[in-house]
Amino acid sequence: MNIALILSGGTGTRLGSAIPKQYIKVDDRMIISYCLERFAKHDMIDRIHIVADKMWHNAIYNCFASDICGFSEPGKNRQLSIYNGLTDILKYADENDNVIIHDAARPLVSDETITECLEALNTYDGALPVLPMKDTVYISNDGQRVSSLLDRSKLFAGQAPEAFKLGKYYEASRRLLPDKILKINGSTEPAIMYGMNVALIEGDENNFKITTKADLERFEEIIKDESMDITK
Ligand code: C5P
Repeated sequence: MNIALILSGGTGTRLGSAIPKQYIKVDDRMIISYCLERFAKHDMIDRIHIVADKMWHNAIYNCFASDICGFSEPGKNRQLSIYNGLTDILKYADENDNVIIHDAARPLVSDETITECLEALNTYDGALPVLPMKDTVYISNDGQRVSSLLDRSKLFAGQAPEAFKLGKYYEASRRLLPDKILKINGSTEPAIMYGMNVALIEGDENNFKITTKADLERFEEIIKDESMDITK
């Protein structure tokens, strides 16, 4: 079974909005509903589980009631939200099942990305889409001058969704409790620390995370263009 775990527990309002960004409406629909639609319509997804604050459950249900099989409480950081989700998923799923973890704030994930992440689990313990680095990345120990160099051809920027074998990834996250888990930035980090074999798949520039006002405007433009196409 393939379970999508959608992370919507962030309260970040860096966009300057009064509500968390994933609940902002674009063309009269909450951003999270675009993301849920991608997973709900995908043939390989059997269940959708969501991490979200209770106050938003009804609004989320109103987008996709029939496909949602559970909610979990948000954690203090993204990785703790994932841990809460995995704990609840394991109450109805098997440790040999697959979990594919995505951000509610990335509404444009493609069918191909979801398929490739899940297909990679036939061979690997995990998979994530990545993009090559556009800029050269430098190391500075003091933030004042360059200390050392990195080989850009070996560097990749991680995106979401990240797919994992459920049981192994739960164990990889559980072992980081209670403190180390607070320092995790990317959800592939626990998997690597636990020795899991994680594949890189080709990322997609369109699968961006809405973080800034410019990202929101970019998403609004894409949706506007799509709705104009449909009415042609
Ligand atoms: O804050 P950031 O944009 O990195 O969050 C990425 C995704 O993780 C968002 O969809 C956000 O709602 C989710 N998140 C979460 N629990 C947290 C922090 C973030 O579910 N504690």
